[in-house]
Amino acid sequence: MGYYESVKAKFDALKEKKDITVLAIESSCDETAAAVVKNGRQILSNVIASQIEIHRRFGGVVPEVASRNHTAAVGKVTDDALKQAGLRLSDIDLIAVTYGAGLLGALLVGVSYAKGLSYAAEIPLIPVSHIKGHIAANYIACPQLEPPYVCLLASGGHTALLKVEDYDSFTLLGSTQDDAAGEAFDKVARTLGLKYPGGPEIEKLALQGRPVIKFTRPMAKEDTLDFSYSGLKTAVINYVHNRAAKGEEINAADVAASFQKTAVDMLVDNAAAAVRRTKTDTLVIAGGVSANTYLREQADRAAAKYGFRAVYPPLGLCTDNAAMIASAAYFLLRSGESFAGLDLDAKATVPLGQADIT
Ligand code: KG4
Ligand code: ZN
Repeated sequence: MGYYESVKAKFDALKEKKDITVLAIESSCDETAAAVVKNGRQILSNVIASQIEIHRRFGGVVPEVASRNHTAAVGKVTDDALKQAGLRLSDIDLIAVTYGAGLLGALLVGVSYAKGLSYAAEIPLIPVSHIKGHIAANYIACPQLEPPYVCLLASGGHTALLKVEDYDSFTLLGSTQDDAAGEAFDKVARTLGLKYPGGPEIEKLALQGRPVIKFTRPMAKEDTLDFSYSGLKTAVINYVHNRAAKGEEINAADVAASFQKTAVDMLVDNAAAAVRRTKTDTLVIAGGVSANTYLREQADRAAAKYGFRAVYPPLGLCTDNAAMIASAAYFLLRSGESFAGLDLDAKATVPLGQADIT
């Protein structure tokens, strides 16, 4: 039997199998990650080799440098994930890999490696969207979580509100018209001379400041759940540069606190409106920005005020990791998704359901 027939037979058998163990590989940006997750919710191992220190000296991710470091790390990270799970490759039912969205060269490293493993061990391969991965982190965090719910997705590349109708069915409710929320955190941090990635640095500095500076917020329109971060980002940059030009001191902690409050309030106000509009009872927060404590507090506050439940991942599952990819793969399998061939390619952008989200 050839590779295709073998993985097809194995994949078909998985549809009836009770327990599914997934090995996932994620390399879309600056973390090389591999994880083993059982039945979409139980982490057996979760290994991350972060390149943050390497990219920090450049003030952001350098794509070529990321690809090279992924290539160096992916083998060891995958071996460690299997070892920490106490399993061999032959114990794995399904290999999952992030095929997009992200940096093409970086993604290709994970995709090529996963294809190689799949071919060598004749284990079916399933391609996973990074965005679906971020959402699925919450299935690990909250064992009772089931669709339908509203998801606020806020990362370095995306900011959107989705109605998650089913495990693999999404309706776009709103999205950013320009920059992503995480991108705004990173750019404001850079303006304030803080390290990359900016989100955690802004959060830290904001703790020492007060949100006393009024940065203009795009006019909230009644009928839209869209976001815009470019105006806020420019307002903060102009504020800092204008003060500097006049030789005036700025209180960087107040700038950080004021920016953070404005950025997060925009997210939470729209998210709360989306929950009410869709008459759902749960708000799930996903993506790197969900690590922000002020965001988590404000989401809890809105949940208490309007009577819904707020769910967000533990800190380690907010930013990029492979456990979330393994979880998403399990639910894709259960939703009837098919496996990939060896012609699987990486994609810089991927649609989510009907919508191309930004
Ligand atoms: O999900 P993620 O790790 O990668 C993408 O898929 O983009 O998100 C990274 C983004 C960065 O922009 C980073 O600054 C932001 O998430 N981030 C935060 C925090 N931790 C990470 N933003 C605000 N507060 C945080 N604590
Ligand atoms: Zn991400």
